[in-house]
Amino acid sequence: MELFTAIKERRAIKHFDNQVIIPETDFTQIMESVLLSPTSYNIQHWRFVRVKEAQLKQRIKEAAWGQQQIEDASELIILCANNQAWNDRPERYWANADENTQNILVPMLQDFYRDKPQMQRDESMRSCGMAAQTLMLSAKALNYDTCPMIGFDHTTVADIIKLPKDHLVGMIVVIGKAAKAAHGRGGQLALSEVLMDNTF
Ligand SMILES: Cc1cc2nc3c(=O)[nH]c(=O)nc-3n(C[C@H](O)[C@H](O)[C@H](O)COP(=O)(O)O)c2cc1C
Repeated sequence: MELFTAIKERRAIKHFDNQVIIPETDFTQIMESVLLSPTSYNIQHWRFVRVKEAQLKQRIKEAAWGQQQIEDASELIILCANNQAWNDRPERYWANADENTQNILVPMLQDFYRDKPQMQRDESMRSCGMAAQTLMLSAKALNYDTCPMIGFDHTTVADIIKLPKDHLVGMIVVIGKAAKAAHGRGGQLALSEVLMDNTF
């Protein structure tokens, strides 16, 4: 599917066909596309938990106030972030660069995030957001539907997936085939309201 069509056709789907199995090749294509999303200094904070076990899905659904798409969608991905990725062997993020570039960028990125917990967290969430949008558009390009979700108890979900210390839960994205189309769009703000020239 062409990109602008995928952008228009992606919707947050609430009702999924629970019989659909996504072929592993499609799933891998989607996730490998996600890895090409941009991140600050190429830090790639994201860590993805693919929840397959029905019992775990059930517990996550309970933590999400019974939202049925958790159970019915074909894939359930919890987008997490390593909040300390900026300091976790950062030379890996520039492994393919020449030595000169590595010597500049690696200390630079560490200096940028050191002792700035709010910035570290913001960056983790930005990376998750970037990944989520690539995931949803890649899935749509392959004719799958998705729903991004934040409506769940984070502490409980973190417990269920054994989230490591220093990691954060960003959001959930489920993937599958819609059993029911989304409602009409809620209403987009006008471009003239949200786009300004030069300053607010
Ligand atoms: C970060 C985020 C969290 C969301 N959480 C939920 C959720 O928990 N449950 C749900 O049904 N929809 C959720 N949505 C879907 C939004 O309601 C939906 O994206 C929005 O209304 C715009 O509709 P559209 O995505 O179909 O264009 C979420 C969307 C985002 C981006």
